[in-house]
Amino acid sequence: MKSLLVYSSKTGNTKKLADAIFENLPGEKEVCAIDDAPTPDGHDLICVAFWFQAGKPDPKSQEYLAKITNQKVILAATHGAAKNSAHAQNGMKFAEGIIPDAQVLATFSCQGEVSPQFMEKAAAKPEPPPWLPDAKTAQGHPDEKDLVALKECLEGLRL
Ligand SMILES: Cc1cc2nc3c(=O)[nH]c(=O)nc-3n(C[C@H](O)[C@H](O)[C@H](O)COP(=O)(O)O)c2cc1C
Repeated sequence: MKSLLVYSSKTGNTKKLADAIFENLPGEKEVCAIDDAPTPDGHDLICVAFWFQAGKPDPKSQEYLAKITNQKVILAATHGAAKNSAHAQNGMKFAEGIIPDAQVLATFSCQGEVSPQFMEKAAAKPEPPPWLPDAKTAQGHPDEKDLVALKECLEGLRL
């Protein structure tokens, strides 16, 4: 199996998920930051790791997802919102909606630390984002427990 892992990470949280995924992928594999990523063509499995912006995958990841056709896909994400919150689930559903013809093998998401400066800026907005109250508990994430859960999720796929 030929796998391609593409990740988008502004502050390093999602890169931690990408590193853990890459370590646990069997067979021929390639990892690329999203700006350097080749097209998904010619790969059996595409893993896309993205961060949440405005309740959705960050714009570069949305653009990349749109290039995926009928490949097998694993989606991973970090967000300030709580794990398994409606916000987190809806953002992941949005990502899946971009790749209707793909075979999504697994989705995984967890919190990713948000800088205090950004939280302050967001809190000062006339309408602070709905995920902001959760973001305080994102500190230190992804942590070891998150990465173990991700590894278990991948092992369960028996790739
Ligand atoms: C500009 C900006 C917008 C964000 N929007 C959201 C959002 O809509 N929902 C959310 O849960 N987290 C949001 N976050 C938090 C990030 O998704 C989170 O910190 C993520 O782990 C960042 O990943 P990275 O370190 O790989 O860049 C936002 C962060 C920034 C800086």
